[in-house]
Amino acid sequence: MTDVRGKVNIGLLGCGTIGSGVYHVLTKNADALADSAGRPLSISRILVKAVDEPRPFEVDASIMTTDSREILEDESIDVYIEVMGGLEPARTFALEVLGRGKSIVTANKELVAHHGRELMEAAAATAAQVKFEAAVGGGIPLIRPMEESLGGDVVQKMLGIVNGTTNYILTQMSVEGSDYSDALAEAQKLGYAEADPTADVTGIDAASKLAILCSIAFKCGVTSDQVYREGIQAVRPDDIENARELGYAVKLLAIASRANGGISARVHPTMIPLDHPLASVSGNFNAIFVIGESVGELMFYGQGAGSLPTATAILGDVVNIVRSLGRPPVTRRSYWSRPGQVLSIEETKTRYYMVLKVVDRPGVLAQLAGVFGEQQVSLESVMQKGIGDSAQIMLITHEVQERNFRAARDSLEKLDSVQEIPSVIRVESA
Ligand code: HSE
Repeated sequence: MTDVRGKVNIGLLGCGTIGSGVYHVLTKNADALADSAGRPLSISRILVKAVDEPRPFEVDASIMTTDSREILEDESIDVYIEVMGGLEPARTFALEVLGRGKSIVTANKELVAHHGRELMEAAAATAAQVKFEAAVGGGIPLIRPMEESLGGDVVQKMLGIVNGTTNYILTQMSVEGSDYSDALAEAQKLGYAEADPTADVTGIDAASKLAILCSIAFKCGVTSDQVYREGIQAVRPDDIENARELGYAVKLLAIASRANGGISARVHPTMIPLDHPLASVSGNFNAIFVIGESVGELMFYGQGAGSLPTATAILGDVVNIVRSLGRPPVTRRSYWSRPGQVLSIEETKTRYYMVLKVVDRPGVLAQLAGVFGEQQVSLESVMQKGIGDSAQIMLITHEVQERNFRAARDSLEKLDSVQEIPSVIRVESA
């Protein structure tokens, strides 16, 4: 039986960059946290891979254990925090804890994006809670505002910069004119990008975050493999320069909207108007722009990663759980069991920027226009620059279904007059 008056014991699963940050903030802000939660909070046990690993913040080694049974079966623990990352054993541990009726806070976007349904069902079965504010947008309060403050509205669309590494790289490419590889190397040197940056630069990290946002906003279960994704590796400094001349910034956007009775969910480099609030989100910052049917436009902005911002989001979730310990949870997520109907990317409608390198001779432009016309692709603007015997054509289409655009691109690639299509980037209007 939970003691609803005394100290709350927390079991911390994992103690790396984020876990030690949680320990640090909880210890430093103990009084403020006790005021917010109504009871003192204490980390009573910590599961670690090795006790003597280097950590950014000092942590009491006497409460560490490398034996998962010791912490998972400790009846005195009231709430768990999972900051191990990865799918296993995080999933198994979370399900075990929930099975015992204990609530868990996790920063693990992969876990929630892949196994959200399983976690929500396990929590509902024992009236425990799963909270994951830190999983999307790090320290930015986002999940709770979306679930609670916007609980009475209908979210129509979300556009997010949800990956700091890629936003830093694209910002460097834009400000310094550096190419992708140099900007990535710089991000790695500064510790913004990991030694293996694959999950960030290919959009895997952003797709997990978008899947979670879709589930919350559209009230159904969306998994990360339902999110279409393209990374930033093919973005050229020339595209960023051209975009600026045309009045756009290039960002890796996570975009979701209601469309044709389903959901459109995609992550890809996107040209966004320079006067859109997301265009000025630079460096490693994150921002999520939300359009609600009644509330209109909102933007959430802040540090999307890092030990202390993430720890803050985690502790906010802990406070929220502690306030309701011993009472039935107010957050119900039975909708997560309803599979989200995510449309194929071919059904998505958007505008496109395309660059073609063509032979510079009479009739070529008419030939290109013919191909676009056959596929019902309407052109908004066309610009040409001569470069020796070749010409570079840069165009922007009106909104068109991706299927038609792809068909046009395939036909263009087969034309003798088209030497290369070095770039295609989707364009957002709002
Ligand atoms: N690697 C992520 C980013 C942070 O660059 O934003 C963790 O989700």
